[in-house]
Amino acid sequence: MTAFPIYLDCDTGIDDALALAYLLASPLASVKGIGTVSGNVSAAAGARNTLDLLQLAGSADIPVACGAHDPLAGSFGGGAPWVHGSNGVGEVVLPPSDASLAAETAAEMLVRLARLYQGELRVVAIGPLTNLAEALRLEPSLPSLVGTVTVMGGAALAPGNITPVAEANIWNDPEAAALVLASGWDATLVPLDVTMASVLEEPHRQALLSSSAPVPQALGEMLGYYFRFYEGIYGRPCSAMHDPLAAALAVGAVKPAVAPVVRAAVDTSSGPGRGQTVCDMRGLYAGYPEVKGARCRVVLSLEEEFAPHLVETLLSHFERTTAAELVEAVPAG
Ligand code: BDR
Ligand code: CA
Repeated sequence: MTAFPIYLDCDTGIDDALALAYLLASPLASVKGIGTVSGNVSAAAGARNTLDLLQLAGSADIPVACGAHDPLAGSFGGGAPWVHGSNGVGEVVLPPSDASLAAETAAEMLVRLARLYQGELRVVAIGPLTNLAEALRLEPSLPSLVGTVTVMGGAALAPGNITPVAEANIWNDPEAAALVLASGWDATLVPLDVTMASVLEEPHRQALLSSSAPVPQALGEMLGYYFRFYEGIYGRPCSAMHDPLAAALAVGAVKPAVAPVVRAAVDTSSGPGRGQTVCDMRGLYAGYPEVKGARCRVVLSLEEEFAPHLVETLLSHFERTTAAELVEAVPAG
């Protein structure tokens, strides 16, 4: 089975942690580098969380680059501790990694990997799009170098989660998102329309918590925090699965049912529409006929339920990785 080379751009983050663990567990993915960006927490705090998670997973050899602290316009707003906890991982204390950050920035890492795996690299962006925008400035031919780009973000027909129309990743850097969606690549957008409909329930969390392996256990604990936030939205302890769903779609492990390719732009005004992904969904009533020149595939629904696949992939991988293998994978000194 071919494993796709992956660059993951994230703001780790509880659901980012799930996405990272999922990509480590999936036989379809080979994570070549991770860049962090301010979003759920600062880029620096996200990088620490990422290093700690990688060490816990026995993957401390994967390079992590700290990316943009501030969005293209304005400054970092302080994160979302009410959703992800003050440390970004639901107040769970992970064993601190002794690995260091890469010497390059996240944008530099993305450009380097795109050149290295020309035409093959799968970019999975699950935080604000600042690093991708910076990479496009650094290497204007980036769109022709990468294989695919999958972005968790936006809301096509569904409401936003920060304002009535804006989703968090786009809201946190609309200027970057506008640039990324206007670039000459075919992007797949995984918006709230599909992620809010992909729900992890308490029995799924219990399955992770009762695992014998440390990574699923830690994820189960983090999800306790996440579930408390989402209880206020769904009326029961559960959570949306934003970032891991984008990761699974990026490697083709789950298939979209309805995913029209449409024109999409981002509102960068300072009015009530700021941060909205303006997707042209007017084809809805005609079964989404082909739109000439459109490049943004918007995932609206899935062929199958996602949560069972997510839990099964995590448990089967991490329970197979023995404690001895984990010790071996942690670099000495
Ligand atoms: C997105 O915002 C962040 O809080 C999550 O990690 C996810 O990437 C959902 O709107
Ligand atoms: Ca995220």
